[in-house]
Amino acid sequence: MTNDCRLSTFLWGVATSAFQLEGSPYADWASWDAILDSKPDVTNHYTLYKEDLCLLKDLGVNAYRFSLEWSRIQPKENTWNEDAIAHYQDIINILLENNIEPMVTIHHFTHPLWFIKKYPWHEDASIEKFLNYAEKITSKIHGVKYWITFNEPYVLLLGGYFEGCMPPGIKDVDLAIKALKNILTCHGSSYDIIHSKIHDAMVSVAHNMAALAPWNRWNSLDRLLAKIAKYFYNHSLLDAFLTGNLNIKFPFKKVIEIEVPIKNKLDFFGVNYYTRVHIRFNPFKKMGVELRHRDIDGYGLTDMGWEIHPHGLEKVLRYASKLNVPLIITENGIATHDSARKTKFMKRHIDVLEKCIKNGIDVRGYFYWSLIDNYEWLQGLDARFGLYKVDFDTLKRKPTNAAAYYSYLIKSRDF
Ligand code: BGC
Repeated sequence: MTNDCRLSTFLWGVATSAFQLEGSPYADWASWDAILDSKPDVTNHYTLYKEDLCLLKDLGVNAYRFSLEWSRIQPKENTWNEDAIAHYQDIINILLENNIEPMVTIHHFTHPLWFIKKYPWHEDASIEKFLNYAEKITSKIHGVKYWITFNEPYVLLLGGYFEGCMPPGIKDVDLAIKALKNILTCHGSSYDIIHSKIHDAMVSVAHNMAALAPWNRWNSLDRLLAKIAKYFYNHSLLDAFLTGNLNIKFPFKKVIEIEVPIKNKLDFFGVNYYTRVHIRFNPFKKMGVELRHRDIDGYGLTDMGWEIHPHGLEKVLRYASKLNVPLIITENGIATHDSARKTKFMKRHIDVLEKCIKNGIDVRGYFYWSLIDNYEWLQGLDARFGLYKVDFDTLKRKPTNAAAYYSYLIKSRDF
């Protein structure tokens, strides 16, 4: 584990993912969500990327997090598309020419269709297939120091193996545990692969962390469930990075303990933070757990129905600081059509971030989600997370007031 001063400049960035901007005919998600049938290229970023990268200059960010679309790079099991690799390299070159630090996500939810059909994550053969991809890109892609192996492994798992709402669409706890072990094994080996090629690489996952609270404080079952959920969702991965053991405790079940080869395989820690969730016991729900968003702080709910709870950012950063590596907020943002709300959301969260840094939490970067409006998983094109608004008929991009405000915030904060 490295914990030195290589992250000396605070990274002010925006984050995106390839599929959400550009789709891909070879990805599992292309046929998963019918919304994409009429807009398979989404914002057509694959063609318009140069224009979009100019927006980064307009914003004045010094970092950009984006992902590689695995299914474009390896559309068939035995076919590598060198043009797609060259395309992503071109993005990196443009960023470097403009002094913008690239942060590359290797896996952001989507898979090539052949992979998810033949080698879903609960099959051990998935490991070799993923690592071939990781080998390929790390030997071909140059100029990248910051790597995220997996975006939100737990969201991938909950969607893909509990709810079944994301590919591979399975609802099976035993297979979920196998899948998680294989995904984390891939993180551990990818960490080694990246470091064998890039001596000063900074590698992490992006972990979705939420503020979790009991629905009714006076109800001991609600409190117990909130505690279990907090441990599972926020902490169990942190402990696995610290010890190499993953302890999974589901409500009313025995603890499952599995070894995962990820101990210390972390150079910084990526935190994605959006909201707080309230939890209560409901015997009619899966595992007796019911989740709800409530507007407690009075800031309202976002267009996703999520509670706006800036203080939760401090909580999750505090938890994450026990890892003793620099932290980077790899995602934080709001879906809203109202740019004044977007501006307020951003300011409130960055105020909390500033307080955390002043109180000694080692945070080295903040990436706003997202640069332009995009495809939101299972929600379509109307969840407006972008600093730039996209007209999905003409595909024109237009700045919201939040874009100018973000530029101002970047200049006015002295981290
Ligand atoms: C994901 C993004 C997603 C965002 C908003 C994050 O959990 O990484 O892909 O668009 O949340 O839902």
